[in-house]
Amino acid sequence: MKRYLSGDEWNIEEREFKPEHHPNSESLFSLGNGHMGQRANFEETYSGPSLQGNYLAGVYYPDKTRVGWWKNGYPEYFARVVNAPQWIGIRIFSGENELDLYRMDVSEFMRKLDMKSGILHRSFTASWPDGTSVRVETQRFLSMSRRELGAIRYRLTPVNFSGELSASLYLEGDVRNQNANYREKFWKPLGHGTSGRYSWLTSRTKKTGFEVCVAMSTRMRINGRSDTIAPDRESKVNFAAHRYRLTVQAGETIEWTKLAAVTTSRDHPADQLVQQACNLLDRAEKTGFDDLKKEHINWWNRKWDISDIRIEGDLSAQQGIRFNIFHLNQTYTGHDPRLNIGPKGFTGEKYGGSTYWDTEAYCLPYYLNTMDARVARNLLLYRYHQLDKAIENAVKLGFTNGAALFPMVTMTGEECHNEWEITFEEIHRNGAIAYAIFNYIRHTGDRQYLVEYGLEVLIALSRFWAQRVNFSSSKQQFVILGVTGPNEYENNVNNNWYTNLIAVWTLNYTLESLEYVQKNAPRRYEEILKRTHFDPQRETARWKSVADHTYFPEDKELGIFLQQEGYLDKEQILSDEVPEQERPVNQHWSWDRILRSSLIKQADVLQGIYFFESYFDLDTIRRNFDFYEPRTLHESSLSPCVHVILAAKLRRAEKAYQLYLRTSRLDLDDYNNEVGEGCHITSMAGTWLSVIEGFGGMRVVNHHLSFNPLLPESWQSLRFSINFRGNRIRIIITRKQIELTAANDEEVTIQIANQTFTLSGRKPLQVSFKA
Ligand code: BGC
Repeated sequence: MKRYLSGDEWNIEEREFKPEHHPNSESLFSLGNGHMGQRANFEETYSGPSLQGNYLAGVYYPDKTRVGWWKNGYPEYFARVVNAPQWIGIRIFSGENELDLYRMDVSEFMRKLDMKSGILHRSFTASWPDGTSVRVETQRFLSMSRRELGAIRYRLTPVNFSGELSASLYLEGDVRNQNANYREKFWKPLGHGTSGRYSWLTSRTKKTGFEVCVAMSTRMRINGRSDTIAPDRESKVNFAAHRYRLTVQAGETIEWTKLAAVTTSRDHPADQLVQQACNLLDRAEKTGFDDLKKEHINWWNRKWDISDIRIEGDLSAQQGIRFNIFHLNQTYTGHDPRLNIGPKGFTGEKYGGSTYWDTEAYCLPYYLNTMDARVARNLLLYRYHQLDKAIENAVKLGFTNGAALFPMVTMTGEECHNEWEITFEEIHRNGAIAYAIFNYIRHTGDRQYLVEYGLEVLIALSRFWAQRVNFSSSKQQFVILGVTGPNEYENNVNNNWYTNLIAVWTLNYTLESLEYVQKNAPRRYEEILKRTHFDPQRETARWKSVADHTYFPEDKELGIFLQQEGYLDKEQILSDEVPEQERPVNQHWSWDRILRSSLIKQADVLQGIYFFESYFDLDTIRRNFDFYEPRTLHESSLSPCVHVILAAKLRRAEKAYQLYLRTSRLDLDDYNNEVGEGCHITSMAGTWLSVIEGFGGMRVVNHHLSFNPLLPESWQSLRFSINFRGNRIRIIITRKQIELTAANDEEVTIQIANQTFTLSGRKPLQVSFKA
């Protein structure tokens, strides 16, 4: 754990500069706007440890697979979001002295992420060994209203000297990904130049051929006066700079404004990228930094109005949840249906920036509740459009007849993961894709989705499960062998309870969905049968049989479901017994030791109980929670949120709260010692879930919203709003009462702690309850 940040409910602040914190801060203070994003690197040169990172949504490189022992079915490449040309650079020299915080005395340092406005601020005084010093104040944002635009305001004041100063505001195209498999460069420079006031670089990714233009315009003012000096411009391969040289007086403030436009061939014809970028800069120059900033802040104000969660009485929890919501909103805005949500968003390079089961299992509800239903629908369509590739993927592994295995990690629908125990065995991911269809329909009521798209996906998923099972003659039941469940600290296990559960559930849900489509859209049903070569009698008979006769490991004496066969034979260690200095165990223990212990990386049985809560009575939930929670290390960021929700369901406020802090401050307090690599963006949606479904106790049951709140002791109130079937409902929970107000006139049936109420029109409904 690393705790060095402060701030308030809207701001994250770092008030002292320590190089050892810098990589973490670069992740935590990252900015993004859905189109592009960047780590919070300093504008000026920094020669200490740092991961320079700029990323463009959807621009990736197929990095050739690197493995020790090649196994058939491995993907050819790992899709990496490419570290893109950098536009923030500003080099400052006072005579021969370069501004570089790693080599200077730094005081009055402050780095601040203003989450309300989406602006990154920084200020500091830095002194060179000769005693001369400068004071610097910066602001930076990636415009939410003009997504291809970024802006920097950089103010510098010589504190105790007068003399020569020079600044080079530059673009840098020679960048590389830190963890490329073969240290390959992913970019080929294309062109460079200046047009009018602007300078630009163009580059193309090798193999994938994405073309990108980065262009900048710069201005300088002294003491608030307008432009005095025009820069010298230089452009060459991979580099363009605007250089300002001036003589300064102590106490004068020099202000540089740098606007950057980043256009890509994903959005524009390749031959128009420079023109488009310059047009954008033209318009932005006319608007000016201050008004661009206002537009950007207005966007955030509107966004916060919809997505904010307010927690009264607990600053740390409040700051934590806003930090999570802030990053979610800047990573995926829903404006481009071709995109998805990478586990690190724009904050780092690990996980390659591709799509994981995280999207369906954790992120979907956030977008369902805070954005137009089309956004969530697009997330489902993303997989629908990749169905053919998922079928091809299954064929590679020996499946037939249109069975689909969606990839563990993907950018285009092709599998990118290459560890056999995950690529071939972590097949529960297929279940999350079915569950997301169910979850979306349950929330929106849009059953037409099933007719148009969902059923085809479900058929392919069920075909997979029906082939993946074996019939065990000793058990006289179907079994699923050789899998990795959600808990990745177990590999190649038999009958992972969660996998078996989600497989059987998918088969049943597909059977139900077939009936629904047959009855309500018979023509489309026939079309789907033809298109998928579906044999209703034969295939559904097999599915029913598998669904009815699959083996589920359990321990009757303990009254628990078993994570997998043989789980109780392992060395039973509780997570409390693992010393702090040995965590996370994957950084300290051998894999062999991990596999032989009972320790669990992330919710597994409890993930199943969370998804299908209504199947289990409270005692069963309690017994499983009490058994598995103490064995869980939460060394995947996706874990604590599920435990919060179940703890709250069991009315364990204190436990739920401890786990909540862990999920909501996972990155801010660096629980898993890895924030330098990037933030855990997808699990931030889990944090949102832990507030809404955990403390708010919200569920959708039989087409209706239901609430069963439980506030932690320190919370005086909790406020949030959600989208539900075209209505926006605002919810205020205090220790004694819940108040709901709908934004439109329709009547809404609501269940509160098992009683039914009607929320009518825009009139607030207030219901008392005992917290
Ligand atoms: C987790 C997976 C998750 C992946 C990406 C891993 O550490 O175990 O469940 O999909 O991270 O977030």
